Amino acid sequence: MAENSDFDVLVIGAGPGGYVAAIRAAQLGLKTACAESRETLGGTCLNVGCIPSKALLHASELFEEAAHGTMAKWGVKAQGVELDLETMHGTRLEAVKGLTQGIEFLFKKNKIEWLKGLATFESADTVKVGDRTVRARNIVIATGSSVTPLPGIIIDQERIVDSTGALELPSVPKQMVVIGGGVIGLELGSVWRRLGAAVTVVEFLDQILPGFDGDVRKEANKIFKKQGFEFKLSTKVTKAERKGDTVTLTVEPAAGGASETIEADVVLVSIGRKPNTEGLALDKAGLQTNQRGQIETDHDFRTKVPGIWAIGDVIPGPMLAHKAEDEGIAVAENIAGQTGIVNHDVIPSVVYTMPEIAGVGLTEEQAKEHGEVKVGKFPMLANSRAKTNREPDGFVKVIADARTDRVLGVWMIASVAGTMIGQAAQAMEFGATSEDIAYTCHAHPTHSEALKEAAMAVTGKPIHI
Ligand code: FAD
Ligand code: NAI
Repeated sequence: MAENSDFDVLVIGAGPGGYVAAIRAAQLGLKTACAESRETLGGTCLNVGCIPSKALLHASELFEEAAHGTMAKWGVKAQGVELDLETMHGTRLEAVKGLTQGIEFLFKKNKIEWLKGLATFESADTVKVGDRTVRARNIVIATGSSVTPLPGIIIDQERIVDSTGALELPSVPKQMVVIGGGVIGLELGSVWRRLGAAVTVVEFLDQILPGFDGDVRKEANKIFKKQGFEFKLSTKVTKAERKGDTVTLTVEPAAGGASETIEADVVLVSIGRKPNTEGLALDKAGLQTNQRGQIETDHDFRTKVPGIWAIGDVIPGPMLAHKAEDEGIAVAENIAGQTGIVNHDVIPSVVYTMPEIAGVGLTEEQAKEHGEVKVGKFPMLANSRAKTNREPDGFVKVIADARTDRVLGVWMIASVAGTMIGQAAQAMEFGATSEDIAYTCHAHPTHSEALKEAAMAVTGKPIHI
């Protein structure tokens, strides 16, 4: 360690990016501290993001299966099914507690010092955390992101909520309006729809789930409509007024035109997230953000100031926990003089609705911009396991380079797409062709066989359609 430094590595933020970076740095023998202002470790993901949302998605799916006859179709008769929302929230909180405490245990095990409080730069190698000032040879900014506000709409976390408020609603809304048909809107909208809310999604663009493959976006929209979601696409919200327990939203066509009003007892604002850099005093470290408020880095996660690195939601790229984690490992390895790499071309994306929606690599639209492609598709309806399980919705789509057959992207809607996409990511990481996937033996009967069949369909030879 350099003279006068307190730590080899100081990580700011203990989300999936920061805590993983801290653990890997400590594993590599570096004296490491992590500053975190929250009461618990784990960041957005463990406290108010991935984990509590998946707890409620799981719970609400069980409720819907019991209450609406899915279980009865299998001969499992549940009489007088009732929702005990308090217990559901309690189990969600238990999951969060267990996992955040798990990170605290890992910090102790790896001798990582948790500096409690908000970190502010004093200079390029000195940071104030609470009333303590520390110097570090390397500083990793992993401060994550927070909700993008919608101008003119005040989030009161009661009737007008962001994702954090939507995880904690004390009762099921009758009418819920979700502003933004992205990942949060569809996941949390699904939770409350399953528990009994009528859910309307207002989306500015002409289709939900921007960034996903076009076929997948269209099919997902159809499936969600079938489930009871109402969509107002190409629509913008211009006003939200709360009177008592009712919120009146004024909406109009995105391109302009006559306005109308929608009433709701809960409105969820989920129009994206913005990087957290306020309060860091980046200027004192010699750093600026780009136009989108992100900290720019090179491929090794170095910022333009020597000794300062950045990872996760605060830098450009998809705002995903697993992307942040992989960057956490890579940045620590780079700091330790090793070669830490993240392949940003192969980062899977999953929406944990039912069915799940997942993709990795290029969409068909993007792939076609690069050259000629071959596409293979296979419907879940023709997959024996999905059919047996009464999960017929969705398909798998494999996009390959027409000349080399190398897989460029895989997209799917299937009950377990979030698990299936891992195989596609691994194949792409190894540079697989569609033929490699098609000639890999897949266990029967599994949903994953649909990926094999979609790969076979690239060259026109699926067996089961
Ligand atoms: P964060 O997790 O945001 O952590 C940053 C931490 O830094 C925070 O704890 C913050 O308190 C702390 N911090 C900030 N500034 C300072 C400072 N100055 N000093 C000290 N501490 C500071 N992603 C997925 O991949 N899968 C999912 O299923 C998923 N579900 C989600 C559901 C919801 C409702 C939300 C909101 C997000 C979800 N995400 C999901 C996104 C995921 O949570 C983020 O991509 C991920 O948490 C980013 O990790 P990070 O380490 O960059 O930042
Ligand atoms: P998002 O970017 O996924 O979706 C926001 C949606 O709002 C877009 O469809 C956009 O067109 C729309 N929009 C923007 N402004 C609007 C306006 N004024 N009126 C109406 N619609 C508008 O953002 P979201 O859902 O808030 O999620 C934030 C981030 O959290 C995402 O980037 C995602 O990566 C991450 N996340 C990931 C999850 C997962 O991996 N399963 C789950 C939840 C969040």
